[in-house]
Amino acid sequence: MARSGKVSVIGAGFYGSTTAQRLAEYDIFDEVVLTDIVEGKPEGIALDISQSRPIEGFETRVTGQTTGPEGEGYEAIAGSSIVIITAGLPRKPGMSRMDLIGVNAKIVRGVTEQVAKHAPEAVLIVVSNPLDEMTALAARVSQFPAHRVMGQAGMLDTARFSHFVAERLGVPVGSVTTLTLGSHGDTMVPVPSACRVNGTPLGDLLSAEEIAALVERTRNGGAEIVGLLKTGSAYFAPSAAAARMARAVALDMGAVLPVCAWVSGEYGISGVYLGVEAEIGATGVRRVIERELTSDELASLRRAAEAVRAKQADVASL
Ligand code: LAC
Repeated sequence: MARSGKVSVIGAGFYGSTTAQRLAEYDIFDEVVLTDIVEGKPEGIALDISQSRPIEGFETRVTGQTTGPEGEGYEAIAGSSIVIITAGLPRKPGMSRMDLIGVNAKIVRGVTEQVAKHAPEAVLIVVSNPLDEMTALAARVSQFPAHRVMGQAGMLDTARFSHFVAERLGVPVGSVTTLTLGSHGDTMVPVPSACRVNGTPLGDLLSAEEIAALVERTRNGGAEIVGLLKTGSAYFAPSAAAARMARAVALDMGAVLPVCAWVSGEYGISGVYLGVEAEIGATGVRRVIERELTSDELASLRRAAEAVRAKQADVASL
């Protein structure tokens, strides 16, 4: 298998390190670089992942690099075609994603400045929370064209929704298709009209109340895990989602994935980073896909856009 390119993951917490592992195990990249500000941590994790190569059977080189407060060490990401920003604090039980906005804005701003300097051609995938706001901030700070900056959330929320539907109906998860749009937060917009189980509309299989309960659990999907873990937040499903987005970019797949992307005109919404379906390839977001929504779903999506627009304006000054 031909391997090519370099992908960098900023932040070697659980989210960053599992993302690096998944990317390495795809065996499609020449190199995966993992960075962190905690001295030795990215080097240690990279060495550990590298030692799994003979067992898992991949050749991708995995390197770790500690970075300093003035951007020391960021040369390691030079030439990356994709950079995944996971830096920032996770939630504690009882916190909303929005409670992280002040502290994570500072971290994401500093990281993005270095990334833009050292990997100016990269596609950025942001996963730090609050997601929609941090994606908008990274776009603004990097000054990259909007199509080269996207956020990971819709894939995770959709995966959670599909898992809950499969579990409720006792069917293989592979037979379930669901969709969420909007924000990765309170204004997440589930799209029941796009949900199918083996081709059958979800609404034919479950009552509106049952669907609403699964939607609510999806909306609180991150908080449910934070509450169980007590320290830290989810990372297995989130890293799977981020790694798949990076793969769609690396292989120029044109896959249609739910992501946080810049919307300009679709659904009558403009000028905001929002959870939508988009065709993902080597240039990042090739185009936003506008699907047929019910009038309720469309109204919810427009409400979500206005809510995140207000927050994205605030974040510019943080
Ligand atoms: C979650 C965090 C990663 O939803 O936003 O689990």
